[in-house]
Order: sequence, then structure tokens, then C-alpha cells
Amino acid sequence: MARKRAAVLISGRGSNMVALIEAATAADYPAEIAVVVSNDPQAKGLDFAKSAGIPTAVVDHKPFGKNREAFERALQSELEKHRIEIVVLAGFMRILTAWFVSQWDGRMINIHPSLLPSFPGLHTHRRAIEEGVKVHGSTVHFVTPALDHGPIVIQAAVPVLPGDDEDSLAARVLRAEHRIYPQAVRWVAEDR
Ligand code: GAR
Repeated sequence: MARKRAAVLISGRGSNMVALIEAATAADYPAEIAVVVSNDPQAKGLDFAKSAGIPTAVVDHKPFGKNREAFERALQSELEKHRIEIVVLAGFMRILTAWFVSQWDGRMINIHPSLLPSFPGLHTHRRAIEEGVKVHGSTVHFVTPALDHGPIVIQAAVPVLPGDDEDSLAARVLRAEHRIYPQAVRWVAEDR
């Protein structure tokens, strides 16, 4: 079985990236993490990736200012250099242009910390608590030009419990994310 070459794109902590790296150590996993790319040179996740022997790259968005596409062209050449077939956004906090999205049509997925289409955008856990929803969760979806949209691959639901605050709810959602993201990447790598 030829394993698909996946890039994991991060901006920070990278706990979903860790879950993916660990899943990909299984002999029958259909994807290999060929590179981890961060737009932030300080991203914590880079240290773990390096210690796991995964190639890493930094494409800092700051020198590109407001020119999103110039940043993305630099990112794209990094992905091409590593012969990437699947792009996995894991806490990658950049809004993508239609140009970049079109390069990866059907081959780029994102994990978002809510049950889409509820709560696109930021501060999803705080908003879920404020709205009083009883069920919250996370969604893995294909990336389309519309932010936090696109065909859904898998969702995980978690309860919102009495007494939850943003942190306790975020931690419960994150545990669910670590379960569903490796599953979603598996399906996408298998062309399902
Ligand atoms: C995750 O909860 C992910 O769903 C969210 O950022 C967190 C990253 O955590 N993504 C977004 O908000 C994307 N808009 P991690 O760095 O520990 O994987």
C-alpha cells in the first residue's frame, strides 16, 4: 500500500498534529506525515514534530503583510517540495484565499471546534456556553473558499455539562478531536 504524503499545517500547540503523528506510526495507516508546516516560528507543535523525526518547515506570514496569496505561494512551494498529496489543517489560524483552496480541491481538510454549521469562526466554546446549547463538539470538513464550510467528513458530539466553563468544555472537545481527526485523515487517504 502506497501511503499518501500528508502535510499537517499548524499555528500553535499542535495537539491534533500529535494525534495524527501517533496514528501514522501504525503500519496499516494509509497516510504518512511527510512534513509539518507552521506559519508561526514559535509554534509549540514544531518541537514535538522535530523530536518525532518529522521534517518541519516555517513559512512566516508576517513578512507578506496583507498579501495573503504571496504567503500562500511560499507555502505552496514548500508543499510541492515535499511532494504533498493531502493537506491537513490542524489549528492553522490563517484565512485562505480561493486561489490556495483551488490548488487543493478535495485534498485539504480542516478541523473546527464546533458542530458546524453552528458556530463558525472564533471563540466557539464561549459562544456555545453563552447560547446554552446542550450538545457541542467538533467537525472535520473539506476546505472550500467559504470559511468553516465545506462537505463534512466526520463530527464528534460532546455534552455541555452544568458548571462547564470555556476551558472545561474546550478540553472535552479536544479529546474528541484527537479521536476523530486520525479517522478522518484515514478515510481521505483511502479516497473514500
Ligand atoms: C483545535 O481545537 C482546532 O479545532 C482549532 O484549534 C485547536 C487547535 O489545537 N481550530 C480552529 O479553531 C480553526 N479555526 P491544537 O493546536 O492543540 O491541535
